[in-house]
Amino acid sequence: MPRTYKIQVLPGDGIGPEVIQESVKILKTVSNGISGLALSFHEFPCGGKYYLETGCEWPGEAEVFSKQEADAILLGAVGWEKSPGDPVRRDDGQLAGATVVLGQRRELELYANVRPVKLYAGVPTPLADKHPRDIDFVIIRENTEGLYAGIGKHYGENEREELAIDMRPISRIGSERVIQYAMKLAMKRQKGAPSDGKPRVTCVDKSNVLIGDQLFRRIFDEIAQLYTNVVPDYAYVDAWTMWCLRQPEYYNVVVAPNMYGDIISDLGAAIQGGMGVAAGGNIGDMHAMFEPIHGSAPRHAGKRRANPVAAILAGKMMLEWLGERQNNKSALKAATIIEEAVKDLLSEGRVRTYDLCVRSYADVKPSTTKQVGTAIRKIVLQKLKAL
Ligand code: IPM
Ligand code: MG
Repeated sequence: MPRTYKIQVLPGDGIGPEVIQESVKILKTVSNGISGLALSFHEFPCGGKYYLETGCEWPGEAEVFSKQEADAILLGAVGWEKSPGDPVRRDDGQLAGATVVLGQRRELELYANVRPVKLYAGVPTPLADKHPRDIDFVIIRENTEGLYAGIGKHYGENEREELAIDMRPISRIGSERVIQYAMKLAMKRQKGAPSDGKPRVTCVDKSNVLIGDQLFRRIFDEIAQLYTNVVPDYAYVDAWTMWCLRQPEYYNVVVAPNMYGDIISDLGAAIQGGMGVAAGGNIGDMHAMFEPIHGSAPRHAGKRRANPVAAILAGKMMLEWLGERQNNKSALKAATIIEEAVKDLLSEGRVRTYDLCVRSYADVKPSTTKQVGTAIRKIVLQKLKAL
């Protein structure tokens, strides 16, 4: 019997539970259908709505479980509103639920936020003349420091004197580990950049202006020298946003400090077909947490229309990470099957949620969250049978 991997499931707020349900359904299917893979699921409440009801962002047991028990964490989304435009906040003014996302990234030292930007066939991109062969890169966002370090202060007794400062620490250790992650990933990606096949790693920063970014780039250069097969590349973050739209095919692996990574990964999500298909992993040396990168989208909650593909691909990334970390080929196989099933469904084109019924798919009748999840599961089952 293989060891059972304990998956902590944190559905969270809004559309989180709706999409996570579909992801778990598919993970259960592969766990039952592939010998050598066994997953158990441990669900805990969390988020803004839970905070409203209980005064805490998640139960104490959930926090302990994530630190001590979980082999991997699957998160939906956090963030709830009391009324439209009025988010639930903690007493200190922070978004209720932030501990579960931002707190965990720091607490568990999930230093690499890995966000693949891959356009699948059958997914409309807003970029004219770009095709799936052109868009396939990975953004590695530093995930524990920078503007997200949580060090800031609000000053001023009266309004005229008000001043707010957020500190942006960028450390050698924090930069080294995330840049090394990016280099290793480039070594693993056999195809390289779509334009020329080069194992390029692009350092995206603002080192023409900011001291922290000068350190980040200097460390990038030091580490790049150790990876002689990797092709180092540089872009200032403002210019990168332009190049990303003009020639996404040039990029392979992109590494950036925290806030830039946050911003450019939404741009990446847009060109791969939107938030509905963009998944990410928060990865450290000891722990990892996977999530669809969309938020809780309170407006869409309960309407059964959210796209579960991002959450399903987050599950696929989780299996990939588990497979590599635990040296478990069955987990890797399961990840491939899930991705292939998603690809098949998307390229076939008829079963998709409203967000993908645009451009050449504008005439397709939108399916529900559950219909999409069920259709992917059906393809997964066919692939399992064929093994
Ligand atoms: C993300 C999100 C989060 C972030 C929010 C929800 C706090 O935008 O994961 O990209 O800013 O990191
Ligand atoms: Mg973001």
